[in-house]
Amino acid sequence: MTDLVLSLDVTERASALRIARACAEDVDAIKVGYPLVLGAGLGIARDLADLGIPLIADFKVADIPNTNTLICDQVFAAGFSAVIAQAFPGPDSVVACVESAHTHGGECYVVAEMSHPGALTFFSEGVPEAICRLVVETGADGIIAPATRPARIRALRDLIGERKILSPGVGAQGGDPAEVAPLVDGMIVGRAIYGAADPAAAARVYAPYRR
Ligand code: XMP
Repeated sequence: MTDLVLSLDVTERASALRIARACAEDVDAIKVGYPLVLGAGLGIARDLADLGIPLIADFKVADIPNTNTLICDQVFAAGFSAVIAQAFPGPDSVVACVESAHTHGGECYVVAEMSHPGALTFFSEGVPEAICRLVVETGADGIIAPATRPARIRALRDLIGERKILSPGVGAQGGDPAEVAPLVDGMIVGRAIYGAADPAAAARVYAPYRR
């Protein structure tokens, strides 16, 4: 039904590689963000990419277009196959990420609505809907939408057509995989897998929901 994306938010290289190797058969992609890159260095991306698992860079890129291009070019040179960007800097900033991604044969996802409770302070009153329109206009490949609010995933799906939805919030944040999996293209799961005593077994809990 959906891809399983492991959010590998550990901070040590050895732990990251151990967990990634253990889960390699049971996940479809790995999402790497600031915790791991700041802890282990950008070279961890090449180490993980060498395992043959697609890598998503969760750097929530949010700068002026020129800086976004510089950041994303480094992301793809490091071995990532997708990048996550913020929409609030505006369409030209998102276009910079999309163009870098597509130049490198990669993808760009845009945060439409976040999964935690406080997200509703700013991601409300039509803002996620406006971001979805921006995603279509800029040619981005998809959105990040909250597994903690499946009704919002359904509402945003109607606005983005065939573009993809990756959804964090299953597991530690309480999202229900049975409800979310049919709605999205990728479920992002972090602590419920990498924090488990047996991460591979924890990843296999989601096997019934994978396509
Ligand atoms: P957990 O441990 O909660 O990890 O399963 C979730 C991962 O996803 C990230 N995250 C988000 N990223 N929009 C994003 O772009 C969101 O709404 C969102 N919510 C969680 C989080 O940083 C962690 O890596």
